[in-house]
Formats: sequence, C-alpha cells, structure tokens
Amino acid sequence: MRFYIRPTRYLQQTHTLFEKVAPIFEQLRVPIHFYKPVRLNMILVTGSMGQIGIDLVSKLANIHGADQIVATDVRPPAPDQLGGVRFTTLDVTDARALDSILSENDFDTVYHLAGILSATGENNPDLCWKVNIEGLEHMLKAARSRNFRLFWPSSIAVFGPATENTSTPQHAVMDPMTMYGVTKTSGELLCRYYFHKFGVDVRSIRFPGIISHVSPPGGGTTDWAVAMFFQALEAGNYSCFVSEDTRLPMMYMPDAVKSILDLMEAPSDQISVRTSYNLTAFSFSAGELAHSIRAYLPNFLCSYDPDFRQEIANAWPSSIDDSIARTDWNWNPEFNLDTMVDDMITEIRKKPDYLPA
Ligand SMILES: NC(=O)c1ccc[n+]([C@@H]2O[C@H](COP(=O)([O-])OP(=O)(O)OC[C@H]3O[C@@H](n4cnc5c(N)ncnc54)[C@H](O)[C@@H]3O)[C@@H](O)[C@H]2O)c1
Repeated sequence: MRFYIRPTRYLQQTHTLFEKVAPIFEQLRVPIHFYKPVRLNMILVTGSMGQIGIDLVSKLANIHGADQIVATDVRPPAPDQLGGVRFTTLDVTDARALDSILSENDFDTVYHLAGILSATGENNPDLCWKVNIEGLEHMLKAARSRNFRLFWPSSIAVFGPATENTSTPQHAVMDPMTMYGVTKTSGELLCRYYFHKFGVDVRSIRFPGIISHVSPPGGGTTDWAVAMFFQALEAGNYSCFVSEDTRLPMMYMPDAVKSILDLMEAPSDQISVRTSYNLTAFSFSAGELAHSIRAYLPNFLCSYDPDFRQEIANAWPSSIDDSIARTDWNWNPEFNLDTMVDDMITEIRKKPDYLPA
C-alpha cells in the first residue's frame, strides 16, 4: 500500500498503528493532519449496502476519510446513510460499467462484497452463479490489468456433508450442496489461480454466520441468529427456521470487519492461503442462543419450525479450525458469545425505533 506520512515518518504505513496512536495524539490535542497517514489512492467497495458492506464502509471512512472511498451496489443508500462517502450504482455483472468506475479513480484496494447469499441463491441459482462468479471474474481481470489489491469473501458454505463436522480444518473435503457453496468453492480456486498465474494480490476469508445489529442479513442460512435478537426484544417470541440443536460457527460484525482489515494489512509474504482462510469466533446452537438471550429477557419464548434452510445448515460444519489465520496474520477475535449477546442487546435497545415487547 502506498502512503506518504507527514511529518512523523515513524508512523509507518499501517492503519492499525494509526488507530493505536490516534487516541494519544487526540488527548494531546495534536491536529490530525500531523499524524494521520495520507493515502494517495482510493478504495472501492462493491455490495456496500449489504450487511457487511455498511459496517465496512463506515470503518474504512473512519480510518481513511470519507473522500477516499467509493461505495457501490445495485441498490441505492438511504439519504445520509453513508455519511459523506460517495455512492455510485454498479451491477458487478456489467464488466463495462465496472471498467468505467475503475477508470475514474486510481483504486489501490477493492473490497468485492457484492453477492447472492445461500438461501436466496437456492431460490435463484442462475442469478447466484452470475453475480458470484461472473462478478468475481470481472473483478479479478480488472485487478490483473489495473494492479489493485482485492478482498473477496468466501463462506463456510464451501463445506458439505462429507466434511469433518467439528474443528473443520483449513484443508478439508469441500463438497458443497448449494449453488452458493458451488460459487464460493469455484471462486476460491479462481482467486488462487489469478494469484499464482498473474500475481494478483487477492485475499479471502471463509466467513461463518455474521451477527450485526446495524443492517439486516441478506438471505443467508444463519439469518436466524440475528432475527432472534430483534424478535426477542421487540415481540418477546421467535419462530426459528432451524432446529434447537443446530450448531453453527459465528462471528460478531466488529470482528468480521477487523478480520478483513487485519488480513488486508498483513504483508503479502505472510499470506500462505490464497484460496480462502478458515475463520471463526465461536459456535452456538439455536437453543443455546435462546438460552443466552433469556438471561436478559427471562420471558422470551423461542419455538423451532425448520424449513428448507435446515438441510443447508445440516451440511455445514458446527465448528471451524482457524489456526492458520491465527498464525499467519495474528487473527484473534475480540468478542465471545457472552460479550456479543450483551452488546447486541444493548445496541438494539438504543435504536430510536426500538419498541420493547
Ligand atoms: N453475512 C454473512 O453471514 C456472510 C457469511 C459468509 C460470507 N458472506 C459473504 O460476504 C459478502 C457480503 O455479504 P453480506 O452479508 O453483506 O450480504 P448482503 O446480501 O447483505 O449484501 C450483498 C450486497 O450485494 C448486492 N448485490 C447483489 N447483486 C449485485 C450485483 N449484481 N451487483 C452489485 N451488487 C449486488 C446486494 O444489493 C447487497 O447489498 C457476500 O459475498 C457473502 O457471500 C457473508
């Protein structure tokens, strides 16, 4: 990544270091332009209106400044939703439209989040393939010709019924049952091919289910883990679409965003996995989450009425071995199940439109 530092050159080129020293300088009332690294290049985010995109764009804008980011998606933001970040409509399946946006700025890094998730993908497999694979291919070709670094998220959906179910290792059987999983498995191989064949610096994480109070999930098999909080707080009951003993690996959104930034900060020679890194924070079953929520809302009632998503969940691991990410780029989540539940409930209760049950 290319930075010029003014005037404190020892603040070498890392956002992480900047984040660590910024509060100290703030307390000393040193003007920010004396110590903030100045980026010369720009960051593009696709799928920026999605569950991950909203949080990632906000974090990137805090670190680099809103004017360094261009957010794109097929659906437009609500007024003021992006806090000064420029938004452009972009369908990632449209290679010419992508090329036109890339021509307007010298993008240094692209976070390619646009995608169709597992449950939605099963309802529309053609669209899932088109967006997830054609979109990724356009982006890899552009990264090759324009020389930007690329982040692309994969998923635990790459695994399937023959995969080791607990502590699933990095190099495990990959036999996805869903079109979403097929696209993620193919996408991982495509990324590794572009790295080895053309030197494209593409990095990826196999995300577990991600829990956020900021924006709703986008049609995945782990959406119940978010919906349960909102329904518990606002209705006092929830009908869960997977069974009580369905256990899946999960992560809280602040850790998901941190993992993306940590991975993109790591020196290239420390990235030993060019398909996609296993990553997790904790695992819980639907029943265990309901139990944890009841510590705050003792009258919360959760019923279980599995639908087609149960079969998808059954084929996914219940826990993940992410030791390679921990070794390669010091992955270490900040939230565990208890601190995540506490933070979710606190944050949802603060929302202006929150109406307690
Ligand atoms: N959220 C999770 O739990 C999770 C877990 C594993 C992997 N991922 C991956 O992370 C990425 C982002 O996921 P998310 O949870 O934010 O999903 P999301 O559904 O909330 O957001 C995806 C965004 O992509 C946009 N999009 C869809 N088709 C598009 C197109 N043709 N062109 C441009 N934009 C398009 C949607 O409008 C949406 O805003 C996806 O690749 C997803 O597979 C997410």
